[in-house]
Amino acid sequence: MSPVLEAALAGLSRKPKSLPPWLFYDEAGCALFDRITRLAEYYPTRTELALLRAEAAGIAALLPAGCALVEYGAGSEDKALILLDALAAAGRPAGCYQPIDVAETALRALASRLDARRPTLPVRPVVADFQTPLTLALEGPAVGFFPGSTIGNLDPPAAVRFLALARGTLGPAAYFLVGVDLPKDPAVLIAAYDDAAGVTAAFNRNLLARLNRDAGADFDLAAFDHRAIWNAAESRIEMHLVSRRAQMVRMAGRAIAIAEGESIHTENSYKHAPEALRALARRAGWRPLRLWTDTAAQFSLHLLTAA
Ligand code: AVJ
Repeated sequence: MSPVLEAALAGLSRKPKSLPPWLFYDEAGCALFDRITRLAEYYPTRTELALLRAEAAGIAALLPAGCALVEYGAGSEDKALILLDALAAAGRPAGCYQPIDVAETALRALASRLDARRPTLPVRPVVADFQTPLTLALEGPAVGFFPGSTIGNLDPPAAVRFLALARGTLGPAAYFLVGVDLPKDPAVLIAAYDDAAGVTAAFNRNLLARLNRDAGADFDLAAFDHRAIWNAAESRIEMHLVSRRAQMVRMAGRAIAIAEGESIHTENSYKHAPEALRALARRAGWRPLRLWTDTAAQFSLHLLTAA
């Protein structure tokens, strides 16, 4: 059974139904996410990029020379390039860049773009799910990089498990730079996940289109509404696909009953205040070293150290 079908069957037999967010990122999903990052309502990408550009020199000054920059969940090279260029400008260039991602096609494209843009930098892409244990051949002191608030997809126990796993992978002298979206006005948050042009809705529904393509399912995309809600108790945005009617969906020979108004929970996006993220990091064995935020306090960058 393909990993996609296996994950889909497991999630849709759960109560309530859910699907893991890594399923979003097939080729169409990666292209839709790329459009999301350029939406007026979706502030995280541009805010994090601006924060990185503003603070890159100060960040680079704290990192070891000749490091192996290991990016978790690398969908684009733009953020890593800011760090790589700042390290080079500080006279302590990185020894290599190791982007890790499950989306193989997008990862290969990223690697070949970087080869063209920075020909002397060794690039070693790793096709993997970063939540599974991973052994890397590190060619220098490791600096982990986990931008985009992707850590927000993980609930707190899973975030601690991931951070502990990364600490093991990156070793006892490692640093870890983690980009984390901050809690803020719910109206701003909801608009970011339910944009006026409907790109996020299309991104959400594409998950069902992907199951039709890759898991032999027959979802009627028009029979599901996109929902983004702010769960204040959990400090997270939730995305759901809500069935407009009672329906029977077939997937690889199985029948899945979905009631009218029933939801498939497709994503959590946790928004961690600085002290909340520090607590998760400490539980995973990291020591918080520094924090940077933009002037509007929309987004944060945490530098952690293993030592
Ligand atoms: C890539 C997980 C950080 O949670 O903001 C964007 C994904 N989902 N719009 C996020 C996403 C809907 C994004 N992450």
